[in-house]
Amino acid sequence: MNLFSPFKLGLPEASGASRGPLELPNRMVMSALTRCRAVEGNVPGPLAVTYYTQRASAGFILTEATQVTPLGQGYPHTPGIHSPEQVRGWIKVTDAVHQAGGRIFLQLWHVGRVSLPDFHGGELPVAPSALPVEGELFSPDGPKKKITTPRALELAEIPRVVEQFKKGAENAMAAGFDGVEIHGANGYLLDQFTKDGSNRRTDAYGGSLENRLRFPLEVADAVVGVWGPERVGYRISPHFTNYSMSDSNPGETFTRLAQELSRRKLAYLDLLEGIAGPRAIPPTAVRLAPVLRKEFKQALMVNGGYDLRSGNEIIEKGGADLVCFGTLFLANPDLPERFKRIMAGTSGPVEGLNQADPSTFYGGGEKGYTDYPKLP
Ligand SMILES: Cc1cc2nc3c(=O)[nH]c(=O)nc-3n(C[C@H](O)[C@H](O)[C@H](O)COP(=O)(O)O)c2cc1C
Repeated sequence: MNLFSPFKLGLPEASGASRGPLELPNRMVMSALTRCRAVEGNVPGPLAVTYYTQRASAGFILTEATQVTPLGQGYPHTPGIHSPEQVRGWIKVTDAVHQAGGRIFLQLWHVGRVSLPDFHGGELPVAPSALPVEGELFSPDGPKKKITTPRALELAEIPRVVEQFKKGAENAMAAGFDGVEIHGANGYLLDQFTKDGSNRRTDAYGGSLENRLRFPLEVADAVVGVWGPERVGYRISPHFTNYSMSDSNPGETFTRLAQELSRRKLAYLDLLEGIAGPRAIPPTAVRLAPVLRKEFKQALMVNGGYDLRSGNEIIEKGGADLVCFGTLFLANPDLPERFKRIMAGTSGPVEGLNQADPSTFYGGGEKGYTDYPKLP
């Protein structure tokens, strides 16, 4: 078994399956990659159609993080899934990907406190608690600004935010996606509720671990209510510490979250726990992948610094079912074919791959987006 072994995503026994499992031709998932190129109205434009279609040979594609409400935005030109224009924009993407033989999930996003009032007509971004946040963000008109201390969500507002995720999930279905991933990672709203460094609430949504998981699990239940669990994934990043994120016991916190998501039969857990590259976790940190592999009974997807060798190895050893590739898919639209040729010895490991250009990651046009060459 390796990256090229097919996989059935979504346990058949998961529910009164409205849709059933999704057949993946390989285990290479294109990771969620924010590219800041949405057009007027935070709509994915024609270039996004080309970009995603070029990558249709992935086991499945995860879209860039996509805000479920205007207040969920924190970066310029990120797409949304809350307006009819955005749904129409995404329909063009999903149609083209399906015509090219691919599968595509939308990543549902709310940045919470990782934002600026500039994105919200001067209104403060929201968070579980009004705590200061280290970091700077690009403002809508360009220059970077320091992140402001957010305002704590009122207890009575929380059901509305859950409802926004539910609406995002419904819109994603109307837009023709094959499923959705809940973005519970990277210091954004769900992660802020989950970790005790950012959640100091004294009501039913803070304090004990059970209370801190209440909002993320209400979101998961709402989204599963729309899609059925076999088409819903959830991303976590237990070791993520940017934007003042911390947790006093990530092992306990994320084991419990994984158990709860497992019980709900979600299709997969997307674990960002880098083994190499810029998101590698510190060598002293305890890896949670082996624990979560046991606790989460459906598919485990690993993410962060994987390549052909380490990706094949973890699948062969049974350490994971799926492997997410971020920068490699960004720079190599036909990554599965390139890996295949490298394995067959018909291309060298270095000359066989395009190198990603970080200067074109966020914003701009075709350059560094749709112009990475395919193999002849
Ligand atoms: C340009 C860029 C944009 C990213 N945007 C997102 C995002 O929208 N959502 C998310 O969950 N992770 C995002 N990430 C993290 C990637 O999905 C992935 O987890 C990370 O790059 C590690 O995988 P890799 O080593 O294969 O690149 C982004 C990473 C990069 C480089």
